[in-house]
Amino acid sequence: TRNPVSKLLLFGATGDLAQRMLLPSLYGLHADHLLPEGLTITGTARSEHDDASYRQFAKDALDEFLPEDRKDEQAVTSFLERLGYQALDATDLQHYQDLAAKVGDVSGGLAIFLSTAPSLFEPVIKGLESAGLAGPTVRIGLEKPLGYDLASSRKINDTVATAFPEERTFRIDHYLGKETVQNILALRFGNSFFEPVWNARGIDNVQITIAETVGLEDRAGYYETAGALRDMVTNHMLQLLALIAMEPPARFDGTAVRDEKAKVFRSLRQMTPEEVPNLTVTGQYAAGAVGDKIVKSYADELGKASTTETFVAIKAHVDNWRWQGVPFYLRTGKRLPVRRSEIAIQFKPVPHSMFAGRGGLLQPNVLIIRLQPEEYVQLLVMAKEPGLDRDGIRLREVPLNLSMDAAFAGSRRRIAYERLLLDLIEGDPTLFVRRDEVEAQWEWTDAIRAGWDANDVKPKSYPSGSWGPSAAVALTERDGVTWQDD
Ligand code: BG6
Repeated sequence: TRNPVSKLLLFGATGDLAQRMLLPSLYGLHADHLLPEGLTITGTARSEHDDASYRQFAKDALDEFLPEDRKDEQAVTSFLERLGYQALDATDLQHYQDLAAKVGDVSGGLAIFLSTAPSLFEPVIKGLESAGLAGPTVRIGLEKPLGYDLASSRKINDTVATAFPEERTFRIDHYLGKETVQNILALRFGNSFFEPVWNARGIDNVQITIAETVGLEDRAGYYETAGALRDMVTNHMLQLLALIAMEPPARFDGTAVRDEKAKVFRSLRQMTPEEVPNLTVTGQYAAGAVGDKIVKSYADELGKASTTETFVAIKAHVDNWRWQGVPFYLRTGKRLPVRRSEIAIQFKPVPHSMFAGRGGLLQPNVLIIRLQPEEYVQLLVMAKEPGLDRDGIRLREVPLNLSMDAAFAGSRRRIAYERLLLDLIEGDPTLFVRRDEVEAQWEWTDAIRAGWDANDVKPKSYPSGSWGPSAAVALTERDGVTWQDD
């Protein structure tokens, strides 16, 4: 049951995320008449603005970040009319009174979107509470980073919980807002033929790759405290793993779906410190070329030497009946050769090949779910090459192809935040991350970090534009498995 609010309050309203994602997403919802009628949006941040100058700021952001075909002058004008602004020093309790006065009556419901430095969580939550902006009609959306390990994440969750009970707390993992990520649910649970083979009997291994070509991107302050493990694995990659590995939820709702994901996180095999060096690989990019762009090393971008990892590969296991013995290989990194997010599911080989010696080698089937940049699902199958060969038949691996762009031509690609902001405004928690999920994710990744510390593991250097340190190849090759690349 959806329960839309009549007001939205955006913290960090002049920040990078607001300009690139939040304002364009809210505009997209507005232009498609998906926002509640009369919904007002108050922006807040440290910078001084009045309503008029903030509307200009928002207009500039839309000019810069909206695709041309989405710009509609009339819709932009009516969207800007929803916006207001109140400057705020987040550490000054007094300021929250002014903020509350600006927001006005919240009896019709208020949704708050909070993306702030972890150090500000406490003052912000206290401030909201003191000014009456945390009552039963108010819900809060939280953007990462929500801590840097289990202990700090618990502390943040405890702080938030003093003012907002779990059912009014919406933790954002923007991967869950991606259309293709939700499509994993549709594929698995909207079709009957995957389920019988979706287990250790049918599947040999699962590979999840999030490859990026970008480097540090002016985020040194944050990235140095995070590294690839915290930045990508504790959230996005483990969410993808859970959607692949979870049992079928009984209903498509926040309780059933998140119960099943949480069970997966709790079933992840905890690594002992001794195991960690064998089950993980870390790297840091050196200078190199990504495509035809010559790029600097991480240390040069940063301006000093660092032991922060920009690449990580992990062999994970889900210890339950369904997945016994099936490795889940995860890999993510910056400055890799291509931007690509993909899940590759390698099936077991046929039990006996009648073509041996009379046609060639059979490749096991692979299901590829490409999340970005293109969106498609491919099933690699063996087929006969056309021809009149006398000594058997020639076999070749070819894709059965479902291109989302072609199948749904004319539908626009939405920003992940459109989905998530709409769900926050309407109060649907299904695609948000519950506290028990987050804490189980941290518990698992903390054990990896502890293993690196215990064994003094330092990231290995890899040239920008490569697929990471060669040890990442060895991680799968040892098991006779090859990373699914083009
Ligand atoms: C963010 C990370 O959560 O996800 C970034 O902090 C990363 O480092 C980004 O670049 C990747 O998101 P997407 O949607 O571009 O795959």
